[in-house]
This record gives sequence, C-alpha cells and structure tokens, in this order.
Amino acid sequence: MKFFSPWSLFATGVCSCARALAFELPAQAVYVDLISYTALGVDGPFRESSFDNATFFNPTLTEPPFFQVFHEGFLDILGPSPSIREIASNTSFAFAHEAPIYFPETDEMFFSSNDGGSLGMSDLDHNNVYGKISLTAAEDALEENPDSGVVNVPVTELALSEKIQMTNGGTGPYKGSLLLITSGRGTRPPSISLVNPREPHNVTVLLDNFFGRQFNSLNDIKVHPSSGKIFFTDVIYAYLYGFRPAPMMPNQVYRFDPDTGNVGVVADGFVRCNGIAFTGDGRIAYVSDTGASGGNLLGLNQTLPATIYAFEVDENTQAFKNKRVFAYVDAGIPDGIQVDAMGNVYTGCGDGVHVFDERGTILGKFFLGSTSANMAFAGDGRLIILAETKIFLAHIAAKGISLSGPS
Ligand SMILES: *[C@@H]1O[C@H](CO)[C@@H](O)[C@H](O)[C@H]1NC(C)=O
Ligand SMILES: *[C@@H]1O[C@H](CO)[C@@H](O)[C@H](O)[C@H]1NC(C)=O
Ligand SMILES: *[C@@H]1O[C@H](CO)[C@@H](O)[C@H](O)[C@H]1NC(C)=O
Ligand SMILES: *[C@@H]1O[C@H](CO)[C@@H](O)[C@H](O)[C@H]1NC(C)=O
Repeated sequence: MKFFSPWSLFATGVCSCARALAFELPAQAVYVDLISYTALGVDGPFRESSFDNATFFNPTLTEPPFFQVFHEGFLDILGPSPSIREIASNTSFAFAHEAPIYFPETDEMFFSSNDGGSLGMSDLDHNNVYGKISLTAAEDALEENPDSGVVNVPVTELALSEKIQMTNGGTGPYKGSLLLITSGRGTRPPSISLVNPREPHNVTVLLDNFFGRQFNSLNDIKVHPSSGKIFFTDVIYAYLYGFRPAPMMPNQVYRFDPDTGNVGVVADGFVRCNGIAFTGDGRIAYVSDTGASGGNLLGLNQTLPATIYAFEVDENTQAFKNKRVFAYVDAGIPDGIQVDAMGNVYTGCGDGVHVFDERGTILGKFFLGSTSANMAFAGDGRLIILAETKIFLAHIAAKGISLSGPS
C-alpha cells in the first residue's frame, strides 16, 4: 500500500530545490531539506489538521517505517547502519500503547495495552493488560528473516493482581522491579506500584492517594536520577474516556519521596499534563501538555497545547523552576518522553517518534505514519517503539540513560 498524501500534488517537480547533501544517508533514511518547504504557495498542500494521518508531513511520500532526517545531527543518533523493523503486531488490538520498561536480565520489553481508547478492549468494565515480548526472540526472528521488514513475536500477558487497574505508565527497573503507574478504574484507585518482573509478578502498592483523596487518573512516571524521588503526572484522561469519576483535583505534576511517604505538587497550570522525563544529570525536567487531545468527551482541539515544556530542577529541593516551551509538535500530541545520553529528547507523536536536540531543534523522526504513545531504550543502541497495534525495533547509535534512580 502506498502512503497516500496530498503532498503528492507537491512532489511533482514543484520543488527541485533540494540542496546537494553534504553527508551520506544510511539505509532507510530520507533527507527532507526543510528550506524547500518553507513557502508552499497559494495552491500549496497546506494541512488542515495535525491529527489527520493522510496529511502528515511526508513530502517525499516515503513508505513508513523510515528515518526522516531534517538535520545532520540526526545522523549521530542513527549511526552509520541503522534499521527500523516491525517485530510484533495485532491489527485488532492496541496491545502496545504505554508503560514501556526494559528488563535487561531477561532481555524482555514490558508494555501495556491502550487504556480506554481506540482498539484498547478496555473500559469501565474491563481492565487493560500488561504484556511482554522477548527481544532475544525478536532479534533471532529478524536474523532468520533478513529480507523481510516484518516479524511477529508472541506477546505474553502478565496475570497481575486486581490492584493494578489500567496501567498507563511505567519506568525502571527500580529496585529490581517494574515501577508502574495506573489510571484506576471506576472507584478502584489510581496507584504507583512495584511489580516483580519475574513470576509470580507479585505487586507492592507504594501510593494510591493524596492525604486520603484518590488521584484523578495517574499517567506517567520517572525516578529523579540523583535524588531518587519519584515524579509523576495526574490528569483527567480516565474521566474523559469514561472509566473514572469526575475529577477532584487539578491536572498537575507531583513529587513523591518513597522513603518518607511525603508527596507534594511541583507544577500545575497545564491543560493536560502527560509524559515526563529528566535529563541524565537530573537538572532538567520535561513535561508534555497534550491538551489538544480531549479524549472521547472533549475530542480533538488543535488550538490547545501539543507541547513539551522544560523546567529547571532545583538541585537541593527538586522544585520545578523556570517553565519554558521546549517544543510544539506538528503531528498529534507529544505523549511519552525519553532522553538519550547526549541529551536529545524523544517523544511519541501522531506520526511516530520525534527527536529534538537539547535546544528544542527538531532533528528528525522515526516516521511510522501512525501514532506512537511512547518508546524506550532497550540497552545501548536499541530503541523499542510502541505503536498501538505494532511494536518496532530500531537499531541506532544512541544510548539511553539509566531510569533506575541513583545507584
Ligand atoms: C489479537 O489480540 C486479540 C485480543 O487479545 C486476540 O484474541 C487475538 O488472538 C490476537 N491476534 C493475533 C493475530 O495475535
Ligand atoms: C515479590 O515477592 C518476593 C518474595 O516474597 C519479594 O522478595 C519481593 O520483594 C516481592 N516483589 C514485589 C514487587 O512485591
Ligand atoms: C478549542 O479550544 C479553544 C481554547 O480553549 C476554545 O476557545 C474553543 O471553543 C475550542 N473549540 C472547540 C471546537 O471545542
Ligand atoms: C488513518 O486514520 C484512519 C481513520 O482514523 C484509520 O482508519 C487508518 O487506519 C489510519 N491509518 C494509519 C496508517 O494509521
């Protein structure tokens, strides 16, 4: 199937102005010289929606998945021989939505299915599921099928305690466990929990209330690299998707000290805060605001934020200071965020994974033509991209940072 796009109107010779490349492009990479598209003309292929997958910015009409390079800096991330291939899929089930956690000891990637949204098979009456795949199995399958872009390794679903309801985020490993954050379901509370990555996958709940009140629906979580404090976002999506009661608190970001139980707010004023990540040195926090996506209840509204904000993190108190816009994305919403060892910022968007350098300059995309809510490094040079009904494995040069807190 050819990727359909009104950009085809534009690709027919209107723009033969691409500059000669001063660098070599690796396989599966396409260079898009942005200066060629800064003036589209009165009859140009202007987009009307940042959510319409038929009009995503793909002016070379390349069939996804591919690396869309806007800036030479992206080549340092990709390295000389990158690849991106599909390793799991299920067209009728969004089994690979969020909460990606890599567990190196077994070379497994864990992830949750979509909670409450399209193809998620979960709602007020049905919990979502947490599953895993073996990356050893995926690498073996890819090696056995060198000419095929696609393999499909089996997903193992974890039989988790009823305490885990609608997993929406996760990080770690933290103290040897998976650190999951859940939205809750009906009157069952959202929570932060440790889950044993090995059978019997026993669960220890760390937090399920704010001085007695339930959170709205917890969304995403990271451990601060130097202080070990746990930071997380709370947002009303579960209400907007019809599986949690009306919200009782603002959409905001919290800091939780797992040693003392102290929990407090470090940032508010978002339309809908969502993903969170720190730089490797813990000095900058990134929080996305996905206000443009209002769930089933409010729908989509492109005039609201699809924006990542950066904060300075106070070295002594871990207070969030000096909020500034880091990046606004052109496709869908910036959902989960990860940072690599060089300080580049990766975020899951409507057309795949966007990569920005530390200044907020877009370097390129892992272009899928469809939504990725989150991704995670799985060891050095390996990125696993969750794409709802599919999982992709990219071999690149970049390395992730530790997500395990202070060592
Ligand atoms: C897709 O997921 C559904 C729901 O878990 C399952 O019943 C079905 O067997 C899966 N299909 C494939 C091809 O794995
Ligand atoms: C699971 O159970 C084992 C054995 O009792 C315990 O050592 C471990 O801490 C538990 N893990 C979690 C996440 O509850
Ligand atoms: C979109 O959001 C803006 C800003 O909040 C609001 O003024 C407008 O009414 C919204 N549009 C729709 C269609 O909901
Ligand atoms: C694009 O969106 C349409 C309508 O929502 C959907 O049916 C289709 O599967 C999507 N295509 C891709 C490649 O995600």
